[in-house]
Amino acid sequence: MASAHPKTLLLVDDNRPLADNLREILEDAGYAVRIAGGYAQALATERNYSVALVDVRLPDGDGTALAAELKQQLPDLEVILLTGFATLESAVAAVRTGAWAYLTKPCSPDDLLLTIRQAMRHVMLVEEKRELGRRAAMAEKLAAVGTLAAGLSHEIRNPLNAASLQLTLLERRLRRLPAESQGQFIEPLDLVQQEIRRLSQIVTDFLQFARPREFTPVAVDLAAVVETVLALLQAQAEEAGLVLERSIESRAYIAGDAGLLQQALINLVLNAIQATPPGGLVRVTLGEQNDSVLLRVEDSGPGIPPALRPRVFEPFFTTKEIGSGLGLPLVHSIVQQHDGNISVQDSTEGGASMVLTLPRSGPR
Ligand SMILES: Nc1ncnc2c1ncn2[C@@H]1O[C@H](COP(=O)(O)OP(=O)(O)O)[C@@H](O)[C@H]1O
Ligand SMILES: [Mg+2]
Repeated sequence: MASAHPKTLLLVDDNRPLADNLREILEDAGYAVRIAGGYAQALATERNYSVALVDVRLPDGDGTALAAELKQQLPDLEVILLTGFATLESAVAAVRTGAWAYLTKPCSPDDLLLTIRQAMRHVMLVEEKRELGRRAAMAEKLAAVGTLAAGLSHEIRNPLNAASLQLTLLERRLRRLPAESQGQFIEPLDLVQQEIRRLSQIVTDFLQFARPREFTPVAVDLAAVVETVLALLQAQAEEAGLVLERSIESRAYIAGDAGLLQQALINLVLNAIQATPPGGLVRVTLGEQNDSVLLRVEDSGPGIPPALRPRVFEPFFTTKEIGSGLGLPLVHSIVQQHDGNISVQDSTEGGASMVLTLPRSGPR
């Protein structure tokens, strides 16, 4: 779930031949390198690196100030400062910015690679530690809610179903009344039905999440799952004034459970519909990448702020007034049951992009 690629570096130096030289050494060592020629260009570079090598003297600004600014924007970033000549002053400034290390040019490739390796390792350790903490917090929350709540949910479902049945009966009787007196009854009845459906969905999600249903994997045609889900949610999208788009780039099969995958996709599309203002777009894309199937749900809504991204998979985390905060944890658990992965990205449509990768199998 790390936002930065662990092996990507940003190199900020206006001396292009030197930068190209360093790039070659670094790429040989297995790193991906992005080069920025100055302060402004560095800030404009996509922030998907975990270590930055910054020359302290840039044509359009001070490298130590850039280091501080980058670190503020990417708290996990480590910066290695490069300088043509070492002075006490610049060393002190470097330490103040919280730079990981300070190298004097020309530095030996060995020194450079060692320093980068150490910085990368540190970035990864910090990330791992955070991820472990997050998992522990999640397990704790679940244990606290525990079996009792799962049992209770079962008990809630029966009366809910009974109530829903009675409402259906009531509605049928009302519809026999003269048309002009139906409206005042039907409308509130519909609302109650809707609320009961919502409750019932929450209970279903919670149960599936608290006690994942076991299944025997069969070949699932994901394109068919996409079609089903879009057909189910089409009316809801229209009501919200949204265009629901599909793009089936390849017909992909995976080993799994169609019902669960459908449930996961419904949750993702519902979130997208709920987040996107009228006039917007929700798109589901099915494609492939190497041996994986890629299922993407994206929207033109406000997106998910980077700071919230790690939290959206936590049970009960919601920013909605009437959200359950169970949708994404459920999706996460279903994706894990299918040996897949889920990540939050930015959509080219301006909003959120939820990307599932699932191992491909079956007929092609
Ligand atoms: N497509 C999206 N666009 C913006 N925010 C989203 C999107 N999907 C999920 N979120 C955020 O993630 C939170 C958790 O989602 P979820 O687990 O489905 O719970 P809920 O929908 O009940 O809030 C939401 O409250 C919202 O803040
Ligand atoms: Mg949701």
